[in-house]
Amino acid sequence: MRGHVPDSPDSHGPPTKIAPRKSGGPPQMSICDRFDRPLRNLRLSVTDRCNLRCSYCMPEENYTWLPREDILDFEEISSLVDRFLELGVSRLRLTGGEPLLRKNLHRLVAMLSPKPGLEDLALTTNAVLLAEQAQELKDAGLGRVTVSLDTLRRDRFEKLTRRPDLDQVLRGIDALEPAGFEGTKIDTVVIRNVNDDELIDLIEYGKRVQAEVRFIEYMDVGGATDWSFERVVSRREMLDTIAEHYGELQSVESGSAPADRYRLPDGTVIGVISSTTEPFCGSCDRSRLTADGRWYQCLYGREGVNLCKPLRDGASNEELQSILRSTWTQRDARGAEDRLRQAARGAYLMPEDLRADPHMEMHTRGG
Ligand code: GTP
Ligand code: 5AD
Ligand code: SF4
Repeated sequence: MRGHVPDSPDSHGPPTKIAPRKSGGPPQMSICDRFDRPLRNLRLSVTDRCNLRCSYCMPEENYTWLPREDILDFEEISSLVDRFLELGVSRLRLTGGEPLLRKNLHRLVAMLSPKPGLEDLALTTNAVLLAEQAQELKDAGLGRVTVSLDTLRRDRFEKLTRRPDLDQVLRGIDALEPAGFEGTKIDTVVIRNVNDDELIDLIEYGKRVQAEVRFIEYMDVGGATDWSFERVVSRREMLDTIAEHYGELQSVESGSAPADRYRLPDGTVIGVISSTTEPFCGSCDRSRLTADGRWYQCLYGREGVNLCKPLRDGASNEELQSILRSTWTQRDARGAEDRLRQAARGAYLMPEDLRADPHMEMHTRGG
């Protein structure tokens, strides 16, 4: 059951509660927050830059970028990742902005992939630069790739992303299988009157390239300044459209992932991520580290913990661990559920809020 809200955060057990982790690596345990959610899933944004301008993420003309000198180098990222792994993180996802814009990303992958305790190392990319990097990323130990792709129509792609790069994206996806990748996913944000007529085409495309297609409800995250509730296509509506075309869908066990998965009559599995109408806050085990080392415990969280400063000031491993532990054990964020309770709901943040603190942008904290 998703979205279960315990009576009161204060009624929760000792702050040092720990949960077992699935396999190997010290210390076999994850620390838990006030709602018993383990520290398990870390999204590492390696750059706030992007080579597309998707309308649901970067609709503005101008952006405030993180200062270059603040960006963590690979050694710094690797060292922080060690501290997270020691406290129970077992799944890492490299994001951005567009992570393939970060020079020599495969070197970071090679530093991260052998780390003990790491069960899953994945990448979320728009695939514009994927064709030329797929093999070196695979060779460096990258486990899985998720590609963001919202349309298969060239004119629509250009309108939606303000860049003419659809063919490059499709070439990038084609490069995955020959490079040895399995478990590829395609993430599509569905927006009313923009691409909600392409669900079937995208499912058919996913079958051809052997990727699981997941449809994501348009979210009012920071950056989505054009968001309105009327433009959200709900999970229910998407499922109705899909079932009308293919016939009855069967629900498939989805584990802890945010996607609800369904099997079509021909065996194809698809996913729907209903972060807007049915948030998964109750089981959310994810947090985000921005490229300049701010750690956010919720997609909607306003305060990030600055890990760059103590790291560069020479904090010991124990001191860094203690910051992570005390932050996570006090975590009570349920941002998407809070948003759902808002009566008159518009965009979460205005362009001026985002300019004042670019850390609030989805492209800074990782899509
Ligand atoms: P897998 O490990 O492949 O299962 O990845 P995932 O299911 O965790 O998916 P991914 O991390 O690629 O996230 C897919 C989409 O879910 C994102 O692009 C967002 O739209 C949404 N999403 C991701 N993280 C969060 C989150 O922390 N909160 C909410 N509310 N939505 C999220
Ligand atoms: N709504 C839903 N998903 C979003 N993403 C970025 N902005 C939004 C939004 N407003 C996610 C999408 C995209 C990835 C890069 O970030 O999944 O594919
Ligand atoms: Fe997790 Fe916050 Fe997203 Fe809810 S809104 S799922 S708590 S990150």
